[in-house]
Amino acid sequence: MTDAHYRDELKQACADQLTADGHLHGWLRTAFAIVPREAFVPDRVWWPVMGPDGTFPVRDRTADPRAWLEAVYDPHRPLITQMDDHLDPSAGPAAGRFSSSISAPDIVCPMLHHLDVPGGHGVLEIGTGSGYNAAMLCERVGSSNVITVEIDERIVHHARQSLYAAGYRPHVRCGDGTRQVHGAAPFDRVIATASTRAIPYAWIEGTVPGGAILAPHATTTGPSGLVLLRVDEAGAAAGRFVELVDFMPLRGQVSQGDAVARLRESTWDAAETATVEGDLGNLGDNRNGLFALWARHPTLRAARNPEGTWWLSSTDLTSWAAARPRPDGESFRVKRHGPHDLFAELAEGAEWWRVSGWPEVARFGLTVTGEGETVWLDSPGRPVAAGLG
Ligand SMILES: C[S@@+](CC[C@H](N)C(=O)[O-])C[C@H]1O[C@@H](n2cnc3c(N)ncnc32)[C@H](O)[C@@H]1O
Repeated sequence: MTDAHYRDELKQACADQLTADGHLHGWLRTAFAIVPREAFVPDRVWWPVMGPDGTFPVRDRTADPRAWLEAVYDPHRPLITQMDDHLDPSAGPAAGRFSSSISAPDIVCPMLHHLDVPGGHGVLEIGTGSGYNAAMLCERVGSSNVITVEIDERIVHHARQSLYAAGYRPHVRCGDGTRQVHGAAPFDRVIATASTRAIPYAWIEGTVPGGAILAPHATTTGPSGLVLLRVDEAGAAAGRFVELVDFMPLRGQVSQGDAVARLRESTWDAAETATVEGDLGNLGDNRNGLFALWARHPTLRAARNPEGTWWLSSTDLTSWAAARPRPDGESFRVKRHGPHDLFAELAEGAEWWRVSGWPEVARFGLTVTGEGETVWLDSPGRPVAAGLG
């Protein structure tokens, strides 16, 4: 079988899987068939699954064209094209923070489905990356109606080349997509393909009343919530979270992990230790629970390691805590520093999630105004954050 036949077979298998998973409807099915995904993937990319040596392996088109094609048409995997804002896969296997990719088909297609953009309408994409999602948008609304913004110059260059070579001519701009809305605003739709800690008000200003914004909203507890907001005449936007997703953050919004580690190191010896009662239920095993914890305590950063220890810190970088479960299953050994009682916040968040009936992400919504954001449960009149309800 030639490589072209093999590609067709893989592309069909990928489409079949997306269809079976309920992700390919209507125009998306046609666009997926037309857009050559392989034309947007650099010859060398990192496979996003860490190998036993602690690095991400490279899929190299020249060395192993079939393995590269299999990666291109894997329905569930993004392919990493940059780490740490500068590393390129030509550097070989590496470990680092993902900073650019071609998103997985099973995230691109559902996002475009949620965006629900009618043909001929204007779309702003934040985070061009490979250009593949922009090409899909061009199939839907026409190239002249798509503006895509990318912060990294080298990535812009590659995306523009790929788009033009595949016959698409959207406006590809280099810049910070959170700051300004580029030309042709207001748009009918704004779609972000990197997660944001807060919806930039510029996106609301750049959307027509009645238009929509789709963006992965970052949390402090792990998963992002993909939120679909409708913009109103008064310059506010509101809507539901539609599902949990994993996205790399917008540049400059990377985690405060290093600063927390420094705070912990410098205060470790003087930290208090106590045994504290607490029942967290299944919070740590449930992504919806972690999302709910963020909604309730948005200034609490929380992660649990495989041994069950919770590592907590406050977003104002004044406090941290480590809570190790005790064998009795009803208490924790808590080591802590700083003015915030972070374990109490964690326990209260778990209890709030339980008494609220363990709501899943789709019961939460978000309202954004010029003053800020409010996360709510079921309706905008029910704010979630502790102290607001
Ligand atoms: C997950 S990738 C995008 C995937 C892409 N849409 C595709 O179809 O392959 C996220 C991209 O957002 C870009 N980015 C990060 N911060 C940005 C910002 N403030 N403005 C514009 N682009 C940004 C990154 O450089 C990266 O290329």
